[in-house]
Amino acid sequence: MLHPSSALFLVASLLAALPVSADGIYTKKSPVLQVNQKGYNQLIANSNYTSIVEFYAPWCGHCQSLKPAYEKAAKSLDGLAKVAAIDCDDDANKPFCGQMGIQGFPTLKIVTPSKKPGKPKVEDYQGPRTAKGIVDSVMDRIPNHVKRLSDKNVDEWLSEDEESPKALLFTEKGTTSGLIRALAIDFLSSIKVAQIRSKESNAVEKFGITLFPTLVLLPGNGHEHIIYDGELKKGPMVEFLSQAASPNPDPAPAPAKKDKLPKWGESEKKPKPSEASASDGEPKPSIPVPVPTSAPIIDTLSTPEALESACLAPKSGTCVLALLSGSDETDAELSSNSKEALDSLAGVGHKHAQRKTNLFPLYGIPATNSAAQTLRARLGLPESAQSVEIIALNARRGWWRQYDPSDSADYGSVRVEAWIDAIRLGEGTRNKLPESTIVTKDKPKKKTDHDEL
Ligand SMILES: *[C@@H]1O[C@H](CO)[C@@H](O)[C@H](O)[C@H]1NC(C)=O
Repeated sequence: MLHPSSALFLVASLLAALPVSADGIYTKKSPVLQVNQKGYNQLIANSNYTSIVEFYAPWCGHCQSLKPAYEKAAKSLDGLAKVAAIDCDDDANKPFCGQMGIQGFPTLKIVTPSKKPGKPKVEDYQGPRTAKGIVDSVMDRIPNHVKRLSDKNVDEWLSEDEESPKALLFTEKGTTSGLIRALAIDFLSSIKVAQIRSKESNAVEKFGITLFPTLVLLPGNGHEHIIYDGELKKGPMVEFLSQAASPNPDPAPAPAKKDKLPKWGESEKKPKPSEASASDGEPKPSIPVPVPTSAPIIDTLSTPEALESACLAPKSGTCVLALLSGSDETDAELSSNSKEALDSLAGVGHKHAQRKTNLFPLYGIPATNSAAQTLRARLGLPESAQSVEIIALNARRGWWRQYDPSDSADYGSVRVEAWIDAIRLGEGTRNKLPESTIVTKDKPKKKTDHDEL
Protein backbone atom coordinates (compact mmCIF):
# COMPACT_ATOMS: atom_id res chain seq x y z
CA MET A 1 0.00 0.00 0.00
CA LEU A 2 1.05 3.51 -0.70
CA HIS A 3 0.90 6.51 1.51
CA PRO A 4 -2.72 7.54 0.93
CA SER A 5 -1.96 11.01 -0.35
CA SER A 6 0.71 9.82 -2.76
CA ALA A 7 -1.55 7.00 -3.92
CA LEU A 8 -4.18 9.51 -4.85
CA PHE A 9 -1.66 11.64 -6.58
CA LEU A 10 -0.22 8.67 -8.43
CA VAL A 11 -3.61 7.62 -9.64
CA ALA A 12 -4.34 11.14 -10.72
CA SER A 13 -1.09 11.49 -12.61
CA LEU A 14 -1.44 8.03 -14.09
CA LEU A 15 -4.78 8.98 -15.49
CA ALA A 16 -3.42 12.22 -16.81
CA ALA A 17 -0.42 10.62 -18.46
CA LEU A 18 -2.05 7.48 -19.75
CA PRO A 19 -5.49 8.06 -21.12
CA VAL A 20 -7.14 4.70 -20.68
CA SER A 21 -10.39 3.80 -22.33
CA ALA A 22 -13.20 4.17 -19.88
CA ASP A 23 -14.62 0.90 -21.15
CA GLY A 24 -11.56 -1.23 -20.39
CA ILE A 25 -12.23 -4.38 -18.37
CA TYR A 26 -9.83 -3.45 -15.57
CA THR A 27 -10.97 -0.90 -13.05
CA LYS A 28 -8.79 1.87 -11.73
CA LYS A 29 -8.15 -0.14 -8.59
CA SER A 30 -6.96 -3.19 -10.48
CA PRO A 31 -3.41 -4.36 -9.80
CA VAL A 32 -3.03 -4.68 -13.56
CA LEU A 33 -1.09 -1.76 -15.04
CA GLN A 34 -3.16 -0.29 -17.85
CA VAL A 35 -1.10 1.24 -20.60
CA ASN A 36 -1.28 2.72 -24.05
CA GLN A 37 1.54 2.85 -26.55
CA LYS A 38 3.38 5.59 -24.72
CA GLY A 39 3.05 3.77 -21.44
CA TYR A 40 4.23 0.57 -23.07
CA ASN A 41 7.36 2.28 -24.37
CA GLN A 42 8.18 4.03 -21.13
CA LEU A 43 7.18 1.50 -18.53
CA ILE A 44 7.72 -1.79 -20.31
CA ALA A 45 9.99 -1.65 -23.34
CA ASN A 46 12.48 0.59 -21.51
CA SER A 47 12.30 -1.14 -18.17
CA ASN A 48 14.94 -3.29 -16.52
CA TYR A 49 12.08 -5.48 -15.37
CA THR A 50 10.33 -8.31 -17.13
CA SER A 51 6.68 -7.69 -17.97
CA ILE A 52 3.72 -9.58 -19.25
CA VAL A 53 1.28 -7.64 -21.40
CA GLU A 54 -2.24 -8.64 -22.27
CA PHE A 55 -3.64 -7.28 -25.53
CA TYR A 56 -7.38 -7.51 -25.17
CA ALA A 57 -10.75 -6.24 -26.24
CA PRO A 58 -13.46 -5.54 -23.66
CA TRP A 59 -16.13 -7.45 -25.59
CA CYS A 60 -14.08 -10.66 -25.75
CA GLY A 61 -15.38 -13.42 -23.50
CA HIS A 62 -12.01 -15.14 -23.06
CA CYS A 63 -10.54 -11.82 -21.99
CA GLN A 64 -13.21 -11.43 -19.34
CA SER A 65 -12.68 -14.94 -18.08
CA LEU A 66 -8.93 -14.39 -17.89
CA LYS A 67 -9.39 -11.30 -15.73
CA PRO A 68 -9.49 -12.91 -12.24
CA ALA A 69 -6.41 -15.06 -12.91
CA TYR A 70 -4.61 -12.14 -14.49
CA GLU A 71 -5.32 -9.88 -11.55
CA LYS A 72 -4.21 -12.59 -9.16
CA ALA A 73 -0.96 -12.95 -11.09
CA ALA A 74 -0.52 -9.17 -10.95
CA LYS A 75 -0.87 -9.24 -7.18
CA SER A 76 1.61 -11.98 -6.64
CA LEU A 77 4.13 -10.44 -9.03
CA ASP A 78 3.77 -7.03 -7.41
CA GLY A 79 7.21 -5.46 -7.17
CA LEU A 80 8.85 -8.38 -8.99
CA ALA A 81 7.59 -7.99 -12.55
CA LYS A 82 5.03 -5.87 -14.33
CA VAL A 83 1.64 -7.14 -15.32
CA ALA A 84 0.03 -4.84 -17.87
CA ALA A 85 -2.91 -4.71 -20.25
CA ILE A 86 -3.70 -2.77 -23.41
CA ASP A 87 -7.23 -2.26 -24.63
CA CYS A 88 -6.93 -2.86 -28.37
CA ASP A 89 -10.51 -1.79 -28.89
CA ASP A 90 -9.58 1.76 -27.98
CA ASP A 91 -9.08 3.61 -31.27
CA ALA A 92 -5.96 5.27 -29.95
CA ASN A 93 -4.37 1.85 -29.36
CA LYS A 94 -5.42 0.12 -32.58
CA PRO A 95 -2.36 1.06 -34.64
CA PHE A 96 -0.05 -0.11 -31.86
CA CYS A 97 -1.86 -3.45 -31.44
CA GLY A 98 -1.57 -3.90 -35.21
CA GLN A 99 2.14 -3.10 -35.05
CA MET A 100 2.56 -5.73 -32.35
CA GLY A 101 0.98 -8.27 -34.70
CA ILE A 102 -2.06 -8.94 -32.54
CA GLN A 103 -4.55 -11.18 -34.33
CA GLY A 104 -6.72 -12.55 -31.58
CA PHE A 105 -7.76 -11.68 -28.06
CA PRO A 106 -6.46 -12.10 -25.56
CA THR A 107 -2.84 -12.26 -26.65
CA LEU A 108 -0.29 -12.40 -23.86
CA LYS A 109 3.28 -11.38 -24.51
CA ILE A 110 6.21 -11.62 -22.15
CA VAL A 111 8.63 -8.74 -22.54
CA THR A 112 12.12 -9.41 -21.19
CA PRO A 113 14.84 -6.74 -21.14
CA SER A 114 17.87 -7.47 -23.26
CA LYS A 115 21.36 -5.97 -23.12
CA LYS A 116 20.20 -3.17 -25.42
CA PRO A 117 17.95 -0.71 -23.60
CA GLY A 118 14.61 -0.23 -25.31
CA LYS A 119 15.05 -3.42 -27.36
CA PRO A 120 13.49 -6.11 -25.21
CA LYS A 121 12.83 -9.67 -26.22
CA VAL A 122 9.11 -10.15 -26.88
CA GLU A 123 7.62 -13.66 -26.87
CA ASP A 124 4.07 -14.93 -26.94
CA TYR A 125 2.96 -16.56 -23.72
CA GLN A 126 1.47 -19.91 -24.68
CA GLY A 127 1.18 -21.44 -21.21
CA PRO A 128 -1.94 -22.14 -19.20
CA ARG A 129 -4.14 -19.13 -18.56
CA THR A 130 -3.95 -19.52 -14.82
CA ALA A 131 -2.35 -17.25 -12.24
CA LYS A 132 0.22 -19.91 -11.44
CA GLY A 133 1.10 -20.58 -15.05
CA ILE A 134 1.60 -16.88 -15.71
CA VAL A 135 3.53 -16.25 -12.50
CA ASP A 136 5.89 -19.16 -13.07
CA SER A 137 6.69 -18.17 -16.64
CA VAL A 138 7.29 -14.56 -15.73
CA MET A 139 9.37 -15.41 -12.64
CA ASP A 140 11.62 -17.59 -14.81
CA ARG A 141 12.41 -14.58 -16.92
CA ILE A 142 13.20 -12.01 -14.23
CA PRO A 143 16.72 -10.84 -15.06
CA ASN A 144 19.28 -12.07 -12.59
CA HIS A 145 21.92 -9.53 -11.65
CA VAL A 146 22.67 -11.23 -8.35
CA LYS A 147 26.15 -12.64 -8.08
CA ARG A 148 26.46 -15.98 -6.32
CA LEU A 149 29.42 -16.15 -3.98
CA SER A 150 31.18 -18.76 -1.91
CA ASP A 151 33.83 -18.61 0.82
CA LYS A 152 36.41 -18.73 -1.96
CA ASN A 153 35.50 -15.48 -3.65
CA VAL A 154 33.52 -13.50 -1.09
CA ASP A 155 36.54 -11.52 0.12
CA GLU A 156 37.50 -10.61 -3.38
CA TRP A 157 33.97 -9.37 -4.04
CA LEU A 158 33.97 -7.38 -0.81
CA SER A 159 37.23 -5.68 -1.65
CA GLU A 160 36.21 -4.79 -5.21
CA ASP A 161 35.24 -1.17 -5.57
CA GLU A 162 35.30 -0.60 -1.82
CA GLU A 163 33.75 2.83 -1.79
CA SER A 164 30.50 1.76 -3.47
CA PRO A 165 27.66 0.12 -1.58
CA LYS A 166 26.95 -3.59 -1.69
CA ALA A 167 24.24 -5.86 -0.40
CA LEU A 168 24.83 -9.46 0.53
CA LEU A 169 22.08 -11.97 1.14
CA PHE A 170 22.81 -14.99 3.30
CA THR A 171 20.42 -17.77 2.36
CA GLU A 172 19.96 -21.49 2.65
CA LYS A 173 18.95 -21.62 -0.97
CA GLY A 174 21.10 -22.28 -3.97
CA THR A 175 18.67 -20.48 -6.26
CA THR A 176 18.11 -16.72 -6.49
CA SER A 177 14.59 -15.75 -5.52
CA GLY A 178 12.46 -13.29 -7.48
CA LEU A 179 12.63 -10.90 -4.54
CA ILE A 180 16.42 -10.58 -4.43
CA ARG A 181 16.54 -10.35 -8.20
CA ALA A 182 13.99 -7.54 -8.08
CA LEU A 183 16.07 -5.70 -5.47
CA ALA A 184 19.15 -6.02 -7.66
CA ILE A 185 17.17 -4.58 -10.58
CA ASP A 186 16.01 -1.61 -8.53
CA PHE A 187 19.57 -0.78 -7.57
CA LEU A 188 21.22 -1.76 -10.82
CA SER A 189 24.41 0.30 -11.17
CA SER A 190 24.13 1.75 -7.64
CA ILE A 191 24.33 -1.24 -5.26
CA LYS A 192 26.04 -4.50 -6.15
CA VAL A 193 23.95 -7.40 -4.95
CA ALA A 194 25.20 -10.90 -4.22
CA GLN A 195 24.11 -13.92 -2.27
CA ILE A 196 25.94 -16.60 -0.39
CA ARG A 197 24.76 -19.86 1.12
CA SER A 198 24.46 -20.63 4.78
CA LYS A 199 26.97 -23.48 4.43
CA GLU A 200 29.77 -21.05 3.53
CA SER A 201 30.84 -20.92 7.14
CA ASN A 202 33.69 -18.42 6.91
CA ALA A 203 31.46 -15.70 5.51
CA VAL A 204 28.65 -16.62 7.88
CA GLU A 205 31.00 -16.31 10.87
CA LYS A 206 32.60 -13.15 9.62
CA PHE A 207 29.25 -11.37 9.66
CA GLY A 208 27.91 -13.24 12.67
CA ILE A 209 24.84 -14.47 10.81
CA THR A 210 22.70 -16.93 12.74
CA LEU A 211 19.40 -16.72 10.90
CA PHE A 212 18.64 -17.33 7.23
CA PRO A 213 17.75 -15.53 5.09
CA THR A 214 19.51 -12.37 6.26
CA LEU A 215 20.28 -9.34 4.15
CA VAL A 216 23.36 -7.29 4.99
CA LEU A 217 24.03 -3.81 3.64
CA LEU A 218 27.63 -2.72 3.24
CA PRO A 219 27.33 1.03 2.80
CA GLY A 220 30.88 1.39 1.49
CA ASN A 221 33.58 3.91 2.43
CA GLY A 222 34.56 1.89 5.45
CA HIS A 223 31.16 2.15 7.14
CA GLU A 224 30.10 -0.72 9.35
CA HIS A 225 27.74 -3.20 7.74
CA ILE A 226 24.06 -3.02 8.70
CA ILE A 227 21.87 -6.06 9.14
CA TYR A 228 18.29 -5.85 7.88
CA ASP A 229 15.80 -7.16 10.35
CA GLY A 230 12.52 -6.02 8.93
CA GLU A 231 9.95 -7.98 7.04
CA LEU A 232 10.98 -9.91 3.95
CA LYS A 233 8.98 -7.69 1.66
CA LYS A 234 10.17 -5.62 -1.18
CA GLY A 235 8.93 -2.20 -0.04
CA PRO A 236 10.69 -2.10 3.33
CA MET A 237 13.77 -3.77 1.86
CA VAL A 238 14.05 -1.12 -0.85
CA GLU A 239 13.73 1.48 1.86
CA PHE A 240 16.47 -0.18 3.86
CA LEU A 241 18.88 -0.29 0.92
CA SER A 242 17.99 3.31 0.08
CA GLN A 243 20.13 4.36 3.05
CA ALA A 244 23.13 3.68 0.83
CA ALA A 245 21.88 4.65 -2.65
CA SER A 246 18.68 5.58 -4.40
CA PRO A 247 16.83 3.01 -6.47
CA ASN A 248 16.60 3.69 -10.20
CA PRO A 249 13.58 5.79 -11.04
CA ASP A 250 11.19 3.80 -13.17
CA PRO A 251 10.39 5.00 -15.74
CA ALA A 252 13.73 6.66 -16.29
CA PRO A 253 13.20 10.42 -16.12
CA ALA A 254 12.72 12.00 -19.51
CA PRO A 255 15.70 14.20 -20.37
CA ALA A 256 13.73 17.34 -21.21
CA LYS A 257 10.38 17.71 -19.52
CA LYS A 258 9.64 16.42 -16.09
CA ASP A 259 8.13 13.00 -16.15
CA LYS A 260 4.95 12.61 -14.21
CA LEU A 261 4.44 8.90 -14.58
CA PRO A 262 4.09 6.94 -11.38
CA LYS A 263 7.06 5.19 -9.99
CA TRP A 264 6.33 1.57 -10.38
CA GLY A 265 6.99 -1.17 -7.86
CA GLU A 266 6.41 0.86 -4.76
CA SER A 267 3.04 -0.54 -3.93
CA GLU A 268 4.45 -2.78 -1.20
CA LYS A 269 5.61 0.30 0.60
CA LYS A 270 3.97 0.48 3.96
CA PRO A 271 2.56 3.80 5.00
CA LYS A 272 4.54 4.79 8.03
CA PRO A 273 2.44 6.41 10.66
CA SER A 274 5.43 8.45 11.72
CA GLU A 275 6.00 9.82 8.26
CA ALA A 276 4.70 13.28 7.69
CA SER A 277 3.30 14.07 4.29
CA ALA A 278 6.23 16.39 3.86
CA SER A 279 8.59 13.41 3.69
CA ASP A 280 6.82 11.91 0.76
CA GLY A 281 9.24 11.53 -2.10
CA GLU A 282 6.74 12.12 -4.86
CA PRO A 283 6.59 15.40 -6.71
CA LYS A 284 3.71 17.44 -5.43
CA PRO A 285 0.82 18.85 -7.36
CA SER A 286 0.60 22.63 -7.33
CA ILE A 287 -1.06 22.93 -3.90
CA PRO A 288 1.77 23.29 -1.41
CA VAL A 289 1.68 20.82 1.43
CA PRO A 290 2.27 22.51 4.76
CA VAL A 291 5.31 21.22 6.56
CA PRO A 292 4.38 20.47 10.15
CA THR A 293 6.50 22.50 12.51
CA SER A 294 6.37 19.95 15.29
CA ALA A 295 6.71 16.23 14.83
CA PRO A 296 3.49 14.31 14.28
CA ILE A 297 2.58 12.04 17.15
CA ILE A 298 3.42 8.36 16.84
CA ASP A 299 0.76 5.74 16.29
CA THR A 300 -1.06 4.12 19.17
CA LEU A 301 -1.87 0.44 19.38
CA SER A 302 -4.80 0.35 21.72
CA THR A 303 -6.01 -3.23 21.39
CA PRO A 304 -4.21 -6.55 21.96
CA GLU A 305 -4.98 -7.51 18.34
CA ALA A 306 -3.39 -4.37 16.96
CA LEU A 307 -0.24 -4.96 19.00
CA GLU A 308 -0.10 -8.61 18.01
CA SER A 309 -0.48 -8.05 14.31
CA ALA A 310 1.95 -5.14 14.21
CA CYS A 311 4.73 -6.50 16.40
CA LEU A 312 4.12 -9.91 17.94
CA ALA A 313 3.42 -12.12 14.92
CA PRO A 314 6.15 -14.68 14.15
CA LYS A 315 7.24 -12.67 11.12
CA SER A 316 7.15 -9.22 12.70
CA GLY A 317 10.28 -7.13 12.26
CA THR A 318 11.70 -4.63 14.73
CA CYS A 319 9.16 -2.49 16.58
CA VAL A 320 9.82 0.18 19.18
CA LEU A 321 7.11 0.36 21.80
CA ALA A 322 6.49 2.86 24.54
CA LEU A 323 4.53 0.98 27.19
CA LEU A 324 2.83 3.94 28.75
CA SER A 325 1.95 4.55 32.32
CA GLY A 326 -1.22 6.26 33.31
CA SER A 327 -4.38 5.83 35.29
CA ASP A 328 -6.04 2.46 34.99
CA GLU A 329 -9.25 3.71 33.49
CA THR A 330 -8.13 6.06 30.80
CA ASP A 331 -4.94 7.01 29.08
CA ALA A 332 -5.87 10.67 29.05
CA GLU A 333 -3.82 11.11 32.18
CA LEU A 334 -0.35 10.25 31.02
CA SER A 335 2.53 10.66 33.38
CA SER A 336 5.02 13.33 32.46
CA ASN A 337 7.63 10.64 31.73
CA SER A 338 5.23 8.99 29.31
CA LYS A 339 4.62 12.27 27.57
CA GLU A 340 8.30 12.97 27.31
CA ALA A 341 8.98 9.46 25.96
CA LEU A 342 6.28 9.88 23.31
CA ASP A 343 7.61 13.28 22.30
CA SER A 344 11.13 11.96 21.99
CA LEU A 345 10.05 9.02 19.86
CA ALA A 346 7.91 11.27 17.67
CA GLY A 347 10.90 13.55 17.19
CA VAL A 348 13.20 10.70 16.16
CA GLY A 349 10.55 9.30 13.80
CA HIS A 350 10.03 12.70 12.23
CA LYS A 351 13.74 13.24 11.73
CA HIS A 352 14.07 9.94 9.89
CA ALA A 353 10.98 10.64 7.82
CA GLN A 354 12.44 13.95 6.73
CA ARG A 355 15.79 12.44 5.91
CA LYS A 356 13.94 9.57 4.23
CA THR A 357 15.99 7.02 6.10
CA ASN A 358 14.78 3.64 7.06
CA LEU A 359 13.37 3.37 10.56
CA PHE A 360 11.33 0.67 12.21
CA PRO A 361 7.82 1.62 13.35
CA LEU A 362 7.35 3.36 16.69
CA TYR A 363 4.18 2.83 18.70
CA GLY A 364 2.66 4.01 21.93
CA ILE A 365 0.84 1.33 23.93
CA PRO A 366 -1.64 2.75 26.44
CA ALA A 367 -1.82 1.09 29.85
CA THR A 368 -5.44 0.23 29.06
CA ASN A 369 -4.31 -2.21 26.36
CA SER A 370 -4.36 -5.50 28.26
CA ALA A 371 -1.62 -6.89 26.05
CA ALA A 372 0.73 -4.31 27.57
CA GLN A 373 0.39 -5.95 31.00
CA THR A 374 0.94 -9.38 29.51
CA LEU A 375 4.01 -8.15 27.71
CA ARG A 376 5.38 -6.53 30.86
CA ALA A 377 4.87 -9.77 32.76
CA ARG A 378 6.53 -11.95 30.14
CA LEU A 379 9.51 -9.63 29.82
CA GLY A 380 9.87 -9.24 33.56
CA LEU A 381 9.17 -5.51 33.51
CA PRO A 382 7.41 -3.79 36.40
CA GLU A 383 3.76 -4.68 35.98
CA SER A 384 2.26 -1.90 37.95
CA ALA A 385 2.35 0.37 34.92
CA GLN A 386 3.63 3.08 37.25
CA SER A 387 6.57 3.56 34.96
CA VAL A 388 6.82 4.08 31.26
CA GLU A 389 9.01 1.51 29.52
CA ILE A 390 10.50 1.94 26.08
CA ILE A 391 11.39 -1.36 24.50
CA ALA A 392 12.40 -2.63 21.10
CA LEU A 393 11.59 -6.11 20.01
CA ASN A 394 11.88 -8.28 16.96
CA ALA A 395 9.64 -11.34 16.96
CA ARG A 396 11.12 -12.82 13.82
CA ARG A 397 14.62 -12.75 15.24
CA GLY A 398 13.58 -13.36 18.81
CA TRP A 399 15.25 -10.48 20.63
CA TRP A 400 14.21 -7.53 22.70
CA ARG A 401 15.94 -4.60 24.34
CA GLN A 402 15.00 -2.17 27.03
CA TYR A 403 15.69 1.53 27.10
CA ASP A 404 17.60 2.60 30.18
CA PRO A 405 16.49 6.07 31.27
CA SER A 406 19.39 6.17 33.75
CA ASP A 407 18.99 7.16 37.39
CA SER A 408 17.73 10.57 36.43
CA ALA A 409 14.72 9.13 34.54
CA ASP A 410 15.86 10.72 31.32
CA TYR A 411 13.34 10.21 28.51
CA GLY A 412 14.65 13.17 26.54
CA SER A 413 15.20 13.03 22.84
CA VAL A 414 19.00 12.93 22.90
CA ARG A 415 19.20 9.81 25.00
CA VAL A 416 16.28 8.13 23.25
CA GLU A 417 17.73 8.86 19.83
CA ALA A 418 21.13 7.47 20.82
CA TRP A 419 19.41 4.29 21.95
CA ILE A 420 17.50 4.00 18.67
CA ASP A 421 20.65 4.60 16.67
CA ALA A 422 22.37 1.80 18.56
CA ILE A 423 19.53 -0.54 17.61
CA ARG A 424 19.74 0.52 13.96
CA LEU A 425 23.41 -0.26 13.96
CA GLY A 426 22.88 -3.55 15.76
CA GLU A 427 25.06 -2.41 18.68
CA GLY A 428 24.68 -3.38 22.29
CA THR A 429 23.23 -6.47 23.88
CA ARG A 430 19.94 -8.02 23.00
CA ASN A 431 17.87 -10.13 25.33
CA LYS A 432 16.27 -13.28 24.15
CA LEU A 433 12.57 -12.75 23.54
CA PRO A 434 10.57 -15.39 25.43
CA GLU A 435 8.70 -17.62 22.96
CA SER A 436 5.49 -16.97 24.85
CA THR A 437 5.41 -13.36 23.70
CA ILE A 438 5.07 -14.34 20.07
CA VAL A 439 1.56 -14.95 18.90
CA THR A 440 1.29 -17.84 16.49
CA LYS A 441 -1.93 -18.28 14.63
CA ASP A 442 -3.27 -21.81 14.39
CA LYS A 443 -4.11 -21.40 10.74
CA PRO A 444 -1.61 -23.22 8.52
CA LYS A 445 0.52 -20.75 6.64
CA LYS A 446 -0.84 -20.03 3.20
CA LYS A 447 1.67 -20.81 0.57
CA THR A 448 2.50 -17.78 -1.50
CA ASP A 449 2.51 -17.92 -5.24
CA HIS A 450 6.15 -17.04 -5.42
CA ASP A 451 9.11 -18.04 -3.35
CA GLU A 452 10.75 -15.97 -0.69
CA LEU A 453 14.42 -15.24 -0.41
C1 LIG B 1 18.12 0.38 -15.91
O1 LIG B 1 19.42 0.12 -15.45
C2 LIG B 1 20.38 1.11 -15.77
C3 LIG B 1 21.72 0.60 -15.28
O2 LIG B 1 22.11 -0.52 -15.98
C4 LIG B 1 20.01 2.42 -15.13
O3 LIG B 1 20.91 3.42 -15.44
C5 LIG B 1 18.61 2.81 -15.58
O4 LIG B 1 18.20 3.97 -14.90
C6 LIG B 1 17.62 1.70 -15.33
N1 LIG B 1 16.37 2.06 -15.92
C7 LIG B 1 15.22 2.03 -15.26
C8 LIG B 1 14.03 2.44 -16.03
O5 LIG B 1 15.14 1.66 -14.12
